[in-house]
Amino acid sequence: MANIERDSIDREEKVRWIYNSRDNKELESRYNQWAKDYDTDLDEGFGWLGPQRAVEFFTRYVPKNARILDAGAGTGLVGKFLDEQGYKNIVAIDLSPGMLEEARKKHVYQSFHRMVMGEPLDFPTNSFDAVISVGVLTVGHAPASSLDELLRITNPGGHIIFSLRPDVYRDNGFKQKQDEMEATGKWKLIEVSKEFQALPEGEPDINHQVWVYQVVSP
Ligand SMILES: C[S@@+](CC[C@H](N)C(=O)[O-])C[C@H]1O[C@@H](n2cnc3c(N)ncnc32)[C@H](O)[C@@H]1O
Repeated sequence: MANIERDSIDREEKVRWIYNSRDNKELESRYNQWAKDYDTDLDEGFGWLGPQRAVEFFTRYVPKNARILDAGAGTGLVGKFLDEQGYKNIVAIDLSPGMLEEARKKHVYQSFHRMVMGEPLDFPTNSFDAVISVGVLTVGHAPASSLDELLRITNPGGHIIFSLRPDVYRDNGFKQKQDEMEATGKWKLIEVSKEFQALPEGEPDINHQVWVYQVVSP
């Protein structure tokens, strides 16, 4: 079997292995093990477009001097694009210390914290002007309830920008949660992207969208 084909199968198995994690402990351990190869596998191998597309939307709304949280920063691919666009005040959180260790090597974040989305986040209310989260609000990762804490730590008038698969939006409680937060006046929807293939080489059948919300003043 040609090496390229073998590598592609290995990568697909790794992605399946990640998604088959039974709980956060196993997910953390598997991301720790994947961390060193993540950029080669996902970014270079599968052509992971999520970070770049989300940052394109981010730049339309967020000023360069904003205090930014990259929630589920992983190895720092989002931070790298933000840095290239002139954003310098970025904090990284992630479930996996191994992923954060790789993010550290990108030299684009101010600080790193192991935190679990879906649990209380150890930041004061209104800590950030913008939150970005790519590839994290998804099956077996951060649940829809994570949005409550992202909202709490974002300044009124600030933005929360994230990627989401349409099927996960529909079937995993995100639609209900996002609608409820809008109906109760907590945030307003500013823009949602067209569906796009975020992993054209790895998951051509699965689409993603970028959602942009603005936090409403109380
Ligand atoms: C597919 S990677 C995306 C990483 C990065 N945002 C990117 O676009 O390359 C998912 C990341 O979310 C982290 N993660 C998964 N569940 C999480 C949770 N509940 N809280 C915080 N991070 C989580 C994983 O450790 C991993 O680094």
